[in-house]
Formats: sequence, C-alpha cells, structure tokens
Amino acid sequence: MGGSARRTETGARSAKRSSPFPFDGKGRSPWPSSRVPGSAQFPKAPRSPCPQRQEDPVATHAAAATADPAVRDAMRRAVELAARGLGSTSPNPVVGCVVLDAHDRPVGEGWHQRAGGPHAEVHALAEAGDDARGGTAVVTLEPCNHTGRTGPCAQALIEAGIARVVYAVADPTPDATGGARALAAAGVEVHEGLLADEAAAGNAAWLTAVTRRRPFVVWKYAATLDGRIAAADGSSRWITSGEARADVHRLRAESDAVVVGSGTARADDPHLAVRGVPGAEQPLRVVVDTEARAVVPGARVLDGTGPTLVAVAEDAEADAGDLAGAEVLRLPRAADGRGGLDIPALLTALYGRGVRSVLLEGGPTLAGAFVEARAVDRVVGYLAPVLLGEGPAALGSAGISTIVQALRLTMTESVRIGPDLRITAVPADSDAPAAPSAAPAVPTPTVTTATVIPTATEES
Ligand SMILES: NC(=O)c1ccc[n+]([C@@H]2O[C@H](COP(=O)([O-])OP(=O)(O)OC[C@H]3O[C@@H](n4cnc5c(N)ncnc54)[C@H](OP(=O)(O)O)[C@@H]3O)[C@@H](O)[C@H]2O)c1
Repeated sequence: MGGSARRTETGARSAKRSSPFPFDGKGRSPWPSSRVPGSAQFPKAPRSPCPQRQEDPVATHAAAATADPAVRDAMRRAVELAARGLGSTSPNPVVGCVVLDAHDRPVGEGWHQRAGGPHAEVHALAEAGDDARGGTAVVTLEPCNHTGRTGPCAQALIEAGIARVVYAVADPTPDATGGARALAAAGVEVHEGLLADEAAAGNAAWLTAVTRRRPFVVWKYAATLDGRIAAADGSSRWITSGEARADVHRLRAESDAVVVGSGTARADDPHLAVRGVPGAEQPLRVVVDTEARAVVPGARVLDGTGPTLVAVAEDAEADAGDLAGAEVLRLPRAADGRGGLDIPALLTALYGRGVRSVLLEGGPTLAGAFVEARAVDRVVGYLAPVLLGEGPAALGSAGISTIVQALRLTMTESVRIGPDLRITAVPADSDAPAAPSAAPAVPTPTVTTATVIPTATEES
C-alpha cells in the first residue's frame, strides 16, 4: 500500500496505545510561525486539502482498466476492506487491496490493520500466492516505494509478477510518492483515479490530517429538537436513545482521540472509552483542563481502560499524584483573552503524537473555540425528539456575531438512528473528502433507519 507516512514515522506507536511517539518534525507548519502557538484561529483551510492528486505521468487515468467491471468491483471491495482499519492504523492511512489473477478473478485481498504491520498489498499478495503472476493489483492508495518497517509495496508487487496496478488516490506525502513510477519503470501497467472520490472519502481523516498537519476533527453533539445539550440544572444524560449512544461508540472506535473540556469533565465525569464495539482499540482520552482542577483522583478517565492525556496550562499547578494514570501535556494559554488553552497548539501536539482523527465530544464552550479556530472538519449532530425549552445550546460562542459570519455547512447525510436523527455536515467551503456513510445516505428530509448496533448503557 502507499503512504510513507507509515514509514517516515517509524518507531511510532499508535496514540491509541498508552504511549505517545515522536513526530519526525520535518514537515513545514501550515501556520505562519506567529500563529503557533498563541493563535486561536487556524488559517482558512486550503481549497483542496485532499486528495491533491499529483498527476503522475507514468500513471494513466481511467482508460481500459477502469472500464473493466471486474476491476471496478475489486476497487469497491478494496474501499470496503480499507474501512476495517479505521481507528487502528494511525499515523498511517487506511488502505485496502484486491489482487485479481490474469483472468480478472479475485484471488487475494487484504487491508492495512495497524501501524507497523504488513501493508494491504502484502496481505493480498500472500493470499493470492502464485495466482498473482500476470494479474492486477487494485489498491485504494498509491503503493509505497520505500523501506520502513516493511519493504516497499511497489517492489513486492513487481516480485510477485503483477502485470497491472490500478490505484484510486495518489499518496500526497512527499516520502511515499514514487510507487507508481517504480512500477512503471519495471514494466507494470499503472492506472490512477478509479473510484478516487470513494477511496478518498474512506481516508478523509488521514488525507486531511497529513495535508493540514493537524488531526481531522469531528465535532459530535447530542441535542434535543430545540437544540439544547443539557437541562437547565446541568443534567445531560439520556437526551438521545441507546441506539444513538451506541453509534457514538462506533465514532469513538474510528477515532484516534476523544476530546472534552473541563466543563464536561466536571459535569459528567465521562469515561470516554469505547464500549460495545468488538475489536476496537481504545482512543486516547483527552481532557482540556487549563488549571488542572477538573480531573480529580477517581475520575473515570483515569481508570486505565485506555490512555488518557490531560492538557493543562504551562503555568498550571498540576499535581502529578492527582493525575496518576494520565499523561500531563502543558500548553500555552489562548492568546486572545477568551481563556482556556491554545487550540492550534493542542492539535499540533496531538498530531505530533500520531493522532490523525479527533472526536470532539464537547461541550459547547470548547466546541465554540474549535469552530472559532476553524478546526472543525465535520459535524455529527444527534437530534432527539425531545424538548427542554431551557438549558445550554449545542454551540457556545464561536466568534460569530452577525449572520454574514455564520459558518455555512453542507449536509452530507441524514439518517434515522432508532428514534433519533443523525445529521452529518461539513463546512460549505471545505474540499475535504465527504464522509463515508455508516448508513445509507439519503437526501433530506427523507430519513431511513440505520443498522442498530448494541445499546450502550451510558452516554459518555
Ligand atoms: N449533549 C452533549 O452532546 C454534551 C456533550 C458534552 C457536554 N455536554 C454538557 O455540556 C455542559 C458543559 O459545558 P461546557 O461548555 O462547560 O463544557 P466544555 O466545553 O467541555 O468545557 C469548557 C471548558 O473547557 C476549558 N477550556 C480549555 N481551553 C479552552 C478553550 N480554548 N476554549 C474554551 N474552553 C476551554 C475551559 O475551562 P478551563 O479553562 O477552566 O479549563 C472551559 O470552561 C455539561 O452540562 C455537559 O453535560 C453535553
């Protein structure tokens, strides 16, 4: 599979495991130096953050291979296979591969399962064995071309006698590119671009993260139909159904880190771990607690179920004893006087720990700061048919005071989850790949019933 990020960040251990790993630090910051740290706002996202396909003169577009139904079917399958790696491959991308024999029959398939493990092509070639000779490798991402913890996939494909490689998306990381060129130089027929949108959508978090040099951020909230995320007395559990809460566990399982602010830590004592998703790796649990006062001994995030990081101010009096079981990350305070920690600095630090996808779970104050920092790439709102009339709104102050400043979103999905509605939207000016749907996307206002996964017992 492609992606030298998988290789350049060798030695990395997934942020989902207990220890952070070093970031090679070679990439240029996307922000002017005056903004990191000390700025509350990211610059506007680049128009085409990903996938900026670097046209490779050796890889032809479409043509015969992409018109071949067997190859298209194989790419669809490869996209499905890639999705199995969501939540466990960071800092690497998710990649799927199907090998067809010389008669276009599928003989092997695989996906990248975890950072440091074999790449998708290696799994698929192993399953195909000698049947790969003279066949086609169909891959969601350009095969890589350099040696890291495993050998270059381009070389493995050449040695297996593959005659044709069809990949969906070029690898945008500078060190990984070149696989197509190496294959072509060895006489392999190479095609780029088949089902590129679908493949890019499946890899949206990684493609966006490596382009912007910060994790892809999904802001999730659960609200009543009148937009309240808690009652006037502060209680917020059980707004949405068990089915919706179970769906949130799927989102957590697909994320490298789950982030809440100190307000939520105080009000809800959330656990933030994944429950009810077989085989899921636990995400890094992050509490943004400027003064180091909200996470107290006995807090559920300190229970050891997964790694925990408490982000505090550089000058906060954090008591290591109180935070035993968590890593303490010291960050600059926000420079704009609104209080709290610097959001770009937080995201840069998480990126440096290999985090490529963040699930922001609240509450409204921290979500407002992320929106103001232009650091929300996707919004997932669970709306329950419940009215409260009073209580905090889903989003707090986001630096928007007049209608022309409103952050316009494009709805990408609306789906019924049990009795609730899940709405997914992305900033209207974003070119990030669309969200892959966990349930069939339907045009609003039509709704469909999503597959129901096991009910969780708690909201957070
Ligand atoms: N229904 C839902 O989806 C949902 C989800 C989550 C929470 N909630 C509810 O929301 C309520 C809590 O709301 P909340 O807004 O207080 O929680 P929050 O957004 O999780 O926490 C806010 C706190 O985060 C800290 N923070 C650190 N850096 C920040 C920054 N750059 N910008 C803003 N804040 C920063 C601030 O306190 P310090 O600076 O002092 O650390 C701030 O007061 C609770 O009732 C909870 O149950 C509901």
